[in-house]
Amino acid sequence: MLVCAGLSKNFAKSASGFATKRFASTKTLREALQEVIPAKQEQLKKLKAEHSQAIVGDVKVENIIGGMRGLKGMLWDASVLDPIEGIRFHGLTIPDCQKVLPAAPDGKEILPESMLWLLMTGKVPTPEETRQLSRELAEKGELPKFVEQLIDSLPQTLHPMTQLGIGVSALNHDSAFQAAYERGIKKSEYWTYTLDDCINLISRLPALAARIYRNVYKSGSEMPAIDKNLDLVGNYSQLLGYGHNKSLTEYLRLYIALHGDHEGGNASAHTAHLVGSTLSDPYLSYSAALYALAGPLHGLANQEVLRWQLAMQKEIGSDITHGKIKDYLWKTLKGGQVVPGYGHGVLRNPDPRFIALQEFCNTLPELRESPIIRLVNMTSEIAPEVLKEHGKTKNPYPNVDATSGCVLYHYGLTEFKYYTVIFGVSRALGALTQLVWARALGLPLERPKSLSIDAIEKIVKSS
Ligand SMILES: CC(C)(COP(=O)(O)OP(=O)(O)OC[C@H]1O[C@@H](n2cnc3c(N)ncnc32)[C@H](O)[C@@H]1OP(=O)(O)O)[C@@H](O)C(=O)NCCC(=O)NCCS
Repeated sequence: MLVCAGLSKNFAKSASGFATKRFASTKTLREALQEVIPAKQEQLKKLKAEHSQAIVGDVKVENIIGGMRGLKGMLWDASVLDPIEGIRFHGLTIPDCQKVLPAAPDGKEILPESMLWLLMTGKVPTPEETRQLSRELAEKGELPKFVEQLIDSLPQTLHPMTQLGIGVSALNHDSAFQAAYERGIKKSEYWTYTLDDCINLISRLPALAARIYRNVYKSGSEMPAIDKNLDLVGNYSQLLGYGHNKSLTEYLRLYIALHGDHEGGNASAHTAHLVGSTLSDPYLSYSAALYALAGPLHGLANQEVLRWQLAMQKEIGSDITHGKIKDYLWKTLKGGQVVPGYGHGVLRNPDPRFIALQEFCNTLPELRESPIIRLVNMTSEIAPEVLKEHGKTKNPYPNVDATSGCVLYHYGLTEFKYYTVIFGVSRALGALTQLVWARALGLPLERPKSLSIDAIEKIVKSS
């Protein structure tokens, strides 16, 4: 039990000794996790003991040369992605989450800390538990001075994602896991120090990401202090300079909660898992994940979508018609480019995250009437038909990035090179959850077998 004798009952203590104020009779995230870990450990132990040799699928040549698409080869509990239905977080669909996960006192969108709680524990937190977690994150949210100086020393021309990765890896200076590992701890204790690091990292991401934003785009502006009474995104929005815009703050909460996890095989989550499996600490593991997220086929797509939609807007002018959009789509495809915001490695239907963000837009008149959002909507009505006719992509429907950046743009956050950083703040929720669980379950070093073309041919001939 982590409420220790020397502290008042209203404080909970982390593995590295940080005491956080708590609401009476409310569980901390650590305590909630502690309750669920033993059953999962038992479940995995039993599976291993009784079914280690059971077959769960075939490996086809197309899996090996096709980026391991569809290959069932990873353990990931927090979310499952169905090609048709989309994502479920511990069994809950996005509309379920919107119904049951606590929102901010002045809002109605999912608070990312309530999503974090769900991902970590598989349980829906109470509003008090969520508030307590918000408080803990805000209390731990300041950046160490040397990280501020490091970020301030970077050239403004360095891509914000590169800066984010640098900042996150430098935060490992204070890694509780690394220090404990060097000291010598039992394997069964790994998860608790990993949790410390993950919470610290998540808490510091808003200050880090906002500092990068201000350095690159708002040079000389003064960043406010973290408000201990605000939630994670309330603070992030304020630090960015958009705290006055309640609609944007709410949008950011929804966006960050929904982007938190998307199964384990996507490039960023998988990278965090792979690097973490070497027992690299969560800061190093997540900085590696951020560089996977920075690729145009993954997290950079939201920036690409906006660039592409703005170019379309410029070419079409104000008289937008489906016909003109169709022509522009064909021009993109005939130019040998992909249509950004469409297609997916797993999904074969419109992305429910796209639908949720569209619904958010539909509730607000200013978004319904926004030229860029109208263009996104009209594009989503025509693009699937064009992509089907083009005949290449397995999924002609919009993914979440088809709309995500355009809402930010509408609200004046127009620096689209920054958008993937917001995604990076979000994806930490799922990737870091899995790092905690990988340590709790004692998952081993990841090491798939690779084959040469000759070796594959030999296997094919002999079978
Ligand atoms: C997401 C994405 C990388 C998935 O890639 P994937 O799993 O290889 O997709 P598919 O299996 O459907 O690809 C089959 C073919 O269709 C093409 N294709 C896929 N999506 C396409 C799109 N949006 N526009 C045009 N062509 C597309 C692929 O380039 C590939 O062509 P190739 O055989 O010449 O290499 C891909 O759909 C894409 O590039 N989309 C645009 C970028 C984007 O929105 N990324 C964000 C993802 S959340």
